[in-house]
Amino acid sequence: MNIAVLCSGSGTNLQAIIDSVNSGYIPAKIALVVSDKKNALALERAKKAGVRTLILDKKDFKTREDFDREVIKNLKEQNVGLVVLAGFMRLMSPHFIKEYRNKIINIHPALLPSFKGTNGIKDALEYGVKVTGPTVHFVDEKLDNGPIILQKALEVRDDDTEESLLERVHGEEHKIYPEAIRLFVEGKLKIEGRRVKIIRKE
Ligand code: GAR
Repeated sequence: MNIAVLCSGSGTNLQAIIDSVNSGYIPAKIALVVSDKKNALALERAKKAGVRTLILDKKDFKTREDFDREVIKNLKEQNVGLVVLAGFMRLMSPHFIKEYRNKIINIHPALLPSFKGTNGIKDALEYGVKVTGPTVHFVDEKLDNGPIILQKALEVRDDDTEESLLERVHGEEHKIYPEAIRLFVEGKLKIEGRRVKIIRKE
């Protein structure tokens, strides 16, 4: 299966995915990395790994849908079967969701449905929760809303800062995202309404 990874930032999750593909843990090919930020470190990681990249600037498109149509065109050219959002800080248009329904996954740094949005770690820390952690989920039309694939709960320590909590959450993201991608690629995820069942046996 060909997969595409969409990123806007440092791309530590992209790196974990690249490493998992290279080690054979994820039986798929990263056919394309798309970024909406030309300076994203994620692009450097992709180039270093010899992965094809595409940079799209939202300023060059009139509407969100126009932007997404260009992404779709490139994904189709690469015959992409799974779209992986890894710190891609844009909401996908309904058109994009329709085109790749149940084939788009995202990682969020909080235990959904808590602390949706762009500051999942800071918001959880400031709220004072004792447990938080990353969520991998299918993407639907609403923000951070689709059926949940994997989550990992972590204890919040009294002396945690945003930086220390981010480090631990990222550490877990780099494990559960490759795991979720592997399960998808191997056809082991079954969506039933809001629930995602994992077929563990052969
Ligand atoms: C990750 O922590 C991911 O959970 C978060 O962006 C970070 C990207 O880091 N995504 C969201 O907050 C989405 N709402 P990375 O570029 O180093 O992979």
